[in-house]
Amino acid sequence: MRLIIMALMGASFALFGSLASARAATPINPQADMKAFQGYFLKRFPKVPLAAYVNGPYNFSKSEADQWKQIMEFPPYQFALDTGKSVFNTKFPNGKDYASCFPNGGVGIAQNYPMFDPKTGRVVTLGIAINRCRVANGLKKLKLTTGPMADILAYMTSTSDGKPINVVVPNNPKALAAYRAGKEYFYSRRGQLNFSCASCHVQEAGMHLRGNVLAPALGMTAAFPLYRSKWGNMGTLVRRFIGCNKKVHSVPAKPDSAAYRDLAYFLTYMNNGLPVSGPGARP
Ligand code: HEC
Repeated sequence: MRLIIMALMGASFALFGSLASARAATPINPQADMKAFQGYFLKRFPKVPLAAYVNGPYNFSKSEADQWKQIMEFPPYQFALDTGKSVFNTKFPNGKDYASCFPNGGVGIAQNYPMFDPKTGRVVTLGIAINRCRVANGLKKLKLTTGPMADILAYMTSTSDGKPINVVVPNNPKALAAYRAGKEYFYSRRGQLNFSCASCHVQEAGMHLRGNVLAPALGMTAAFPLYRSKWGNMGTLVRRFIGCNKKVHSVPAKPDSAAYRDLAYFLTYMNNGLPVSGPGARP
């Protein structure tokens, strides 16, 4: 284990080092980053087609893939999906509804999130947009990690199933800064174990860590929200961020923090063109 950790630290140092030195000279270019990011995985795992990355760990473990096939005969997220649909279609006490807050009545729009909001200069995830809608209609915010929020997200995401992810980073200094902050978060080492997200999900992608296959960072956001057998219920992407932060003994950010919004913005942008495939299920 120690050897692996040392190798990981070396690798992430090399990557982050080159990133940091390249940064001063190169302007932010999300499009070029995305091409390089996708290209890296396609070259490293030539047998895995681009769209298959949305299936995360299942490309790399036959036993998990077999388990998954069994699980999907009765998808464990079905209950959340049905609940989310009926909540979504229930009127608020003021007579309005969720649909009134979104373009196209909220149907088939999940692929466009996270979205940069030029009015506030901040990134808005779909979960945060749902909470905004609630507050605008006199309701309390929902917890962003699990529960009713995950149900509503499951329904809204299902209406985008198969649509290509299409996150936009407009040519706006605040949008570019948010993108850059998310990228830096992803490549920065943190916690007592001193790992970055990239240490595990880029360098060690496809390898095993204590019985888990490490999902490649490419495609990683596409199946959320998802039902995880280990949780015994649904979780959102933010729930996963918190879990992975804790894994390396670092202090997680707040679910609605700029740090996590920007991280989701960067990570989802890297998946542009891949199909939305949520809600999902994982061991
Ligand atoms: C010590 C290694 C490690 C680090 C560092 C780490 N993760 Fe993870 N991550 C895991 C493991 C193990 C899993 C569960 C197996 C899997 O799906 O990869 C996981 C799962 C995930 C998943 C779900 C993938 C899927 O398809 O279900 C996401 C998203 C994720 N991590 C994001 C992150 C982000 C963002 C960071 C940085 C804040 C991070 N992880 C840091 C080990 C790590």
